[in-house]
Amino acid sequence: MSKLVLVTGGAGYIGSHTLVALQEAGFDAVVIDNLCNSSEVALQRVETITGKPVRFYRGGVGDRVLLDQIFAENAICAVIHFAGLKAVGESSQKPLEYYQNNVAGSLVLLEAMRASGVKRLVFSSSATVYGSEAPVPYVETLQTGSTSNPYGTSKWMVEQVLRDAANADPELSIALLRYFNPVGAHPSGLIGEDPQGIPNNLLPYIAQVAVGKREELSVFGGDYPTPDGTCLRDYLHVVDLALGHVRALEWLADHTGAEAFNLGTGQGTSVLEIVRAFERASGESIPFQVAPRRAGDLPAFWADASRAARELGWVASLGLDEMMADTWRWQSENPHGYRAVDEEG
Ligand code: NAD
Ligand code: UD1
Repeated sequence: MSKLVLVTGGAGYIGSHTLVALQEAGFDAVVIDNLCNSSEVALQRVETITGKPVRFYRGGVGDRVLLDQIFAENAICAVIHFAGLKAVGESSQKPLEYYQNNVAGSLVLLEAMRASGVKRLVFSSSATVYGSEAPVPYVETLQTGSTSNPYGTSKWMVEQVLRDAANADPELSIALLRYFNPVGAHPSGLIGEDPQGIPNNLLPYIAQVAVGKREELSVFGGDYPTPDGTCLRDYLHVVDLALGHVRALEWLADHTGAEAFNLGTGQGTSVLEIVRAFERASGESIPFQVAPRRAGDLPAFWADASRAARELGWVASLGLDEMMADTWRWQSENPHGYRAVDEEG
């Protein structure tokens, strides 16, 4: 059996960390990425970390001709599908782009897999598929679907497509990995999250305040029904998350069907606890002000991560201190991300 995995979106944040985990676990990787939200430098850094080559095809997952070429040129045993657009706010402004990339792109990928006989797929889903009504902690058996933005809906739709595809083809084996809040970076400081423009997410924003790129953090909402009034989320280290993909690949080898797994720590942490943990890890102070709530934010959610522990043999092992220390190392050693100079002005 080949140990060659096609990683779509492999130059991105979670993809690049997963490439390292794959290569360290004895897999080889081929990447397809159109670099719409990433840099080829990330792939070079992966090669530096692991000492192994990554074969790279630049292009979109909606390009059937390119996908057929990739499957013809490489004996691929499984696909990990990260490629997609992920900015929640932007998805409401550009719904067609989100459905085209995330849903139509996944369909083209599935058709190309079918044509070349590849039966195993790991899909990047999200805790957002549980929607706004689900009780916490989120468990995989809950009903999904009351999503509130096109990004979340696109993830939910692809999950449905994958379940239908698995029902129709009993040889298909699919893991739907529902990520909670991935943060952190590889401990080498060579790869990490490199958002374009003003970061939407909490940790990249805090990290940019710490290096002086942003003045202060706005804490969105201080009057939630939580212990300190700020929202609770289940933050997990991206290195743990990457390992979850390796475990999922191993699981695919002796299971069929489409199954969902939460990947989280099982613990909720508040925005203010994150600020304090980051200050401890970095030695920098993070000025903040409490601002109005952000539209669409839920007060608190975290994972019931017991299914992944039971069936994949995966548990998150890195704690908040490692998440913060590794975020800080990446940000302070690469203040402009993968760009050599600050092109954002
Ligand atoms: P990212 O933007 O860093 O990585 C996505 C990669 O896919 C980028 O390299 C981008 O250039 C590429 N890409 C986008 N559209 C493409 C297309 N049509 N064809 C080829 N390449 C394309 O994002 P990430 O944080 O690494 O997320 C990876 C996946 O995980 C995404 O599907 C995202 O929705 C999902 N996810 C992320 C989070 C998170 O918090 N980061 C949470 C839940 C789910
Ligand atoms: C967001 C998305 C979610 C997506 C996830 C990972 C929304 C509503 N949800 O989740 O669909 O899967 O990112 O990409 O956008 N915060 C601040 N100040 C900031 C930034 C964030 O206080 O400058 C707070 C937020 O209000 C939230 C917490 O920090 O309470 C985490 O925010 P964020 O990192 O954006 O993640 P989510 O909102 O959980």
